[in-house]
Amino acid sequence: MKKGIQVAIDGPASAGKSTVAKLVAKRFQYVYCDTGAMYRVVTLAALNQGLDLTDTVRVSRLAQAIKISFAPGEPEQRVFLDGQDVTTAIRQGRIDQNVSAVAAIPAVREEMTRQQRQIAEEGGIVMDGRDIGSTVLPNAPVKIFMVASAHERARRRYVENQEKGIATASLEELQREIELRDQKDSSRKVSPLVQAPDALRLDTTSLTIEEVVDRISAIVKKTLNEL
Ligand code: DC
Repeated sequence: MKKGIQVAIDGPASAGKSTVAKLVAKRFQYVYCDTGAMYRVVTLAALNQGLDLTDTVRVSRLAQAIKISFAPGEPEQRVFLDGQDVTTAIRQGRIDQNVSAVAAIPAVREEMTRQQRQIAEEGGIVMDGRDIGSTVLPNAPVKIFMVASAHERARRRYVENQEKGIATASLEELQREIELRDQKDSSRKVSPLVQAPDALRLDTTSLTIEEVVDRISAIVKKTLNEL
């Protein structure tokens, strides 16, 4: 059997990356890595310790000291902070509101990038985030940049929150939050959200999850055949 390849999926908040990445990983029996969850864990740890998030030295030190790990789970992968299950805790509103600040700290990004490269080393991985194709895995043979309109992304997040029973803001508020986060993620100095020049842009506004998974899977298959 051919060795698994690296599949990088990037794009703005709530473009459906993690849902799709997870399903593509399942199809090829690859490992799935949600890099956004890693920045969320660092944010949770910093807030739990009462750190001032503008104290970049202490937040960076903390990012280097904590242990972030993943374990398979249904319906979603479990995420751990020093062995404690924080899968639900990292999706709280206070994390949404503070994670951009933490993700903008260069030394935090350096540490996360180092860990992400280690996870992806063996190949057979689908990794989603903002800078995977551009910075973390610049040699990944498959790079997808997933986009969707802010309105559609807010709608999807709204439905998802309702299904998960998470208290949700209004659709309009969600859209504003998403636009603000896009702006912060795109304008930061280190590894901003940008499409890698060799990434394939996929607009999912009017596509179903299945259609997106099928398209990406076809690209992965084609790439595997060409190796
Ligand atoms: O995908 P998400 O909403 O869980 O990501 C959380 C935050 O982390 C988001 O503000 C962008 C940031 N992030 C990043 O800067 N680089 C990544 N590779 C993944 C996420």
